[in-house]
Amino acid sequence: MMRIYCVKDYDELSRAAANRIAAQVTLKPDSVLGVATGSTPVGMYENLVRMYESGDLDFSEVTTVNLDEYKGLGKESSQSYVYYMEEKLFSKVNLNRERTFVPDGTELDSEKACREYDEILAQVGPADIQVLGIGHDGHIGFNEPADYFPDGTHCVALDEMTIQANKRFFESEKDVPRESYTMGIGAIMRAKTILLLVSGEEKAGILKKALFGPVTPRVPASILQFHQDVVVIGDEGALKEITE
Ligand code: F6R
Repeated sequence: MMRIYCVKDYDELSRAAANRIAAQVTLKPDSVLGVATGSTPVGMYENLVRMYESGDLDFSEVTTVNLDEYKGLGKESSQSYVYYMEEKLFSKVNLNRERTFVPDGTELDSEKACREYDEILAQVGPADIQVLGIGHDGHIGFNEPADYFPDGTHCVALDEMTIQANKRFFESEKDVPRESYTMGIGAIMRAKTILLLVSGEEKAGILKKALFGPVTPRVPASILQFHQDVVVIGDEGALKEITE
């Protein structure tokens, strides 16, 4: 089943998303949270930190699994996803660091890095709830448009558009990572609930395609139509083409 919640703007989206996560952690304190990076969930993390600070939320038994990481980057790099997570959530709440997992970007043997992450995912079990954003091309995690839906963690070559888009964060273009590790579509689909967050008009077209177009690996997020429990929280801009 898919439920689509329309909220007014980014601020409301961030509060609604944090409330959904907070409800999950309150009802099941040892929840496994699948988490995402990128700009969309930033406000959600801010709200979660606030709830923790005010004593309304306890992360001490929670496990987190991240979707992806740049190959070659570790926690010292301010562009790595592990750094992002540290900054936005891990260092600000009472998570047990031994239960926060991000693919190991410093492991340059791709096969090993992916195998180890799949082992971790198998051990901690499917996420109770997986937070997702969506890329302009319909990607989820770093699962880009492809000929098939990859099941396990794998290494992806970043396309030229992504490299160009990301180069502003690095000293020079050659410092932009060329590859990343990402959880596969299979692991994402095994999450018990999917929480898809989408903000802004520039995502309206791809969101409509993903939720109501044909299910195809050319639009990786379209596979979510086959998931049994999807919660979409979109703001007015993102849902523009669906609600009109
Ligand atoms: C991040 C991730 C990506 C983003 C997507 C949207 O961990 O896996 O799939 O969710 O690229 O990014 P933003 O939110 O920056 O628009």
